[in-house]
Amino acid sequence: MPNALNGKKILLGVTGGVAAFKACELVRELQRWGASVQVVMTEAATHFIGTASFQALSGQPVFTDQWDGRIANNMAHIELSRQADAILIAPCSTDMMAKLAHGLCDDLLSTLCMARDKPLLIAPAMNRQMWMHPATQRNARQLRDDGVAILGPGNGDQACGETGDGRMLEAVQLTEAMEAFFTPKSLAGKSVLLTAGPTQEPIDPVRVISNLSSGKMGFAIAQACQRAGAQVTLVAGPCALPTPDGVQRIDVRTAQQMHDAVHALMQPRPDVFIAVAAVADWRVAQVSDQKIKKTGDDDVPTLQFVQNPDILASVARLPDAPFCVGFAAESEDLEKHGEEKRRRKGIPLLVANIGHATFGRDDNELLLIDAKGHTRMPLAAKTDLARALVLHLAGQLPA
Ligand code: CTP
Repeated sequence: MPNALNGKKILLGVTGGVAAFKACELVRELQRWGASVQVVMTEAATHFIGTASFQALSGQPVFTDQWDGRIANNMAHIELSRQADAILIAPCSTDMMAKLAHGLCDDLLSTLCMARDKPLLIAPAMNRQMWMHPATQRNARQLRDDGVAILGPGNGDQACGETGDGRMLEAVQLTEAMEAFFTPKSLAGKSVLLTAGPTQEPIDPVRVISNLSSGKMGFAIAQACQRAGAQVTLVAGPCALPTPDGVQRIDVRTAQQMHDAVHALMQPRPDVFIAVAAVADWRVAQVSDQKIKKTGDDDVPTLQFVQNPDILASVARLPDAPFCVGFAAESEDLEKHGEEKRRRKGIPLLVANIGHATFGRDDNELLLIDAKGHTRMPLAAKTDLARALVLHLAGQLPA
């Protein structure tokens, strides 16, 4: 499965701060995604974590000194920065931000950043007052103007006992941000609207009819589209997943609300509509205003249903319709039923779940069905499948 970090060489700069311990986990996480890591530490960082830890974790010698004789031409700042695909400083201290903003070069890390011909990303980590200080904010603005990407900082409890902005992002968040950074912007300039999750159809004020959709696949695709450079809106049924960074989310409950929210977003038309939601096909005809009570031992209520609107088909029928992608859960004869469904809904691409018990799981197996035929995506994490799907989709869109 594609992963933009795979094979990348990351120069990880570690500066002095309590969060340096999180950089150990960051090395492991970057490696888990297929990147190799070369660590460069400032002298201050070595007061928090020893070089041996990073050497053992990264499998590469750690550099701290501008005059390190292990580099053949004794120009560590040039050699190290040329070998990397990107430089990430995590944690990045107040002092290092100030140095970078002013172009100071008084140690190996600041010097190689000045000598770099590769992108620089920093993950600030500091006390909240230091982060909010006008000088630090000024430096952050300067660094952004200079093309440096600033990841975080996060908000929360700090090592000093205070609470606020200035926490270094977690290793997983930083790794995801690095992957997003390297992701080809195959959907740049495109707008994508998605539906995800289940819908809930009320019976009375306390009871609903719903399904087991977790929303994981739809949320993963929304995130992958955003990372591929699209402007993304996600209409989500009830699910407890966090909103992917940079994605606009609209929460709805019923199929009718989902339908109305989607159509309210059709002007201007998005370039792509991806219907991942497991929309309830029917709703209860007469929703009771009051909780339905048992009145006797043999008393069983009878519910009448009416059909919900087919959101995907209604969008596909619009004049000048977006490029529509449907999902299908079929329990038998996947290829035949999938192709029939694609034609019935009038859409160019249908994604069929292979195996119908994927609800709630973190992995999945997909069959992509379009007018030309089938493409199978073997069992993989939903996040990996989402990235692969976005690449496939980008290849099908009109230029
Ligand atoms: N869909 C939709 N609105 C509905 C029902 C389905 O937008 N009221 C979309 C789903 O989001 C999915 C696709 O249509 O992208 C196929 O959903 P699925 O439940 O597999 O198909 P149905 O049209 O409901 O047909 P059936 O349940 O009979 O297989």
